[in-house]
Amino acid sequence: MYQPDDIVNMLKAAGEATRLRLIALLAEGELSVKDFTEILDQSQPRISRHLKLLADANLVSRYAEGAWAYYRLCESGPGSAFADWLKTQIDRNAQQLRQDREKLDAVRKARREEAEEFFATIAGSWDKLRSLHAPDSAVEAEILSLFDGIKVDTLLDLGTGTGRMLELLAGHYRQGIGIDSSREMLRVARSKLEAEGISNGQVRLGDIGALEDFAGAADRVVLHQVLHYFDDPGAAVSSAARCLRAEGQMIVVDFAPHEMEFLRDEQAHRRLGLSDAQMGNWAQAAGLSVASRKAIPPETEIGLTVCLWVLEHAETTGQHA
Ligand SMILES: C[S@@+](CC[C@H](N)C(=O)[O-])C[C@H]1O[C@@H](n2cnc3c(N)ncnc32)[C@H](O)[C@@H]1O
Repeated sequence: MYQPDDIVNMLKAAGEATRLRLIALLAEGELSVKDFTEILDQSQPRISRHLKLLADANLVSRYAEGAWAYYRLCESGPGSAFADWLKTQIDRNAQQLRQDREKLDAVRKARREEAEEFFATIAGSWDKLRSLHAPDSAVEAEILSLFDGIKVDTLLDLGTGTGRMLELLAGHYRQGIGIDSSREMLRVARSKLEAEGISNGQVRLGDIGALEDFAGAADRVVLHQVLHYFDDPGAAVSSAARCLRAEGQMIVVDFAPHEMEFLRDEQAHRRLGLSDAQMGNWAQAAGLSVASRKAIPPETEIGLTVCLWVLEHAETTGQHA
């Protein structure tokens, strides 16, 4: 039940053509102010003003990340039910909204291509580049400890890159499948797996956003240093979650929030690390919960903290509690 003032505020906020377009776009996932300015072709101050009104009415939530701000429709709190209702009532095929969505797809495609170009260029040196900012050996020891005495049937390594996780965990799966959208990274991965004689690990070209072939197939899914390349990491978590068996676990390894803005330009990062609160929200939206979380501090001055989250289906975590 809402207070009359709150209803008036929510209706006023949503009752304007541009703001309704913003809400319809946010129904597609998390977006930055920059995304909105590119899609709507309106100035940043204008877009920010509209978003502020929506945030003040509790319809959207804001997450500041370095110089950027990301927005999503509220999933809890006073405005979430109204935002949810709006989402189901808007005709996605109305001409303007369809055009907005097409622009969103184009913006995302251009970014994906930029990232693919980046990975094509650095494929040969990725294994060295990875440890530039991450305490690699400590992180790998932590990952291995999650497999202590365990051999799973099927492991999916999403965004496998040069296949390091398939290599590290080769003794802990019967069948390991690495998926990646970069042919160049996969080329390096294939020759590495072959050179190491890892016959139970294989890699395939694929998109983390389209994993239908692997629905319910994996005992463990690994996303190692991948999510910060996504505009909307939550969508990737949801897609990955659909690959898990009922008792399966997802292991997400990524940077904690940081302020190294240059990584966006120089290394195709989209997000400056991931927070525990975000991971909790993304897990919840994917029907999972965070079973454990560990932070591994940097080893060098230019290093970053790396976090390791284990996600499970919400009921499984309940059983362990
Ligand atoms: C930083 S690398 C990490 C590779 C590997 N997990 C590791 O830690 O060495 C990120 C990888 O994610 C892949 N990637 C990014 N977006 C993807 C997508 N939508 N679908 C599949 N792979 C993707 C990139 O091609 C890249 O190889």
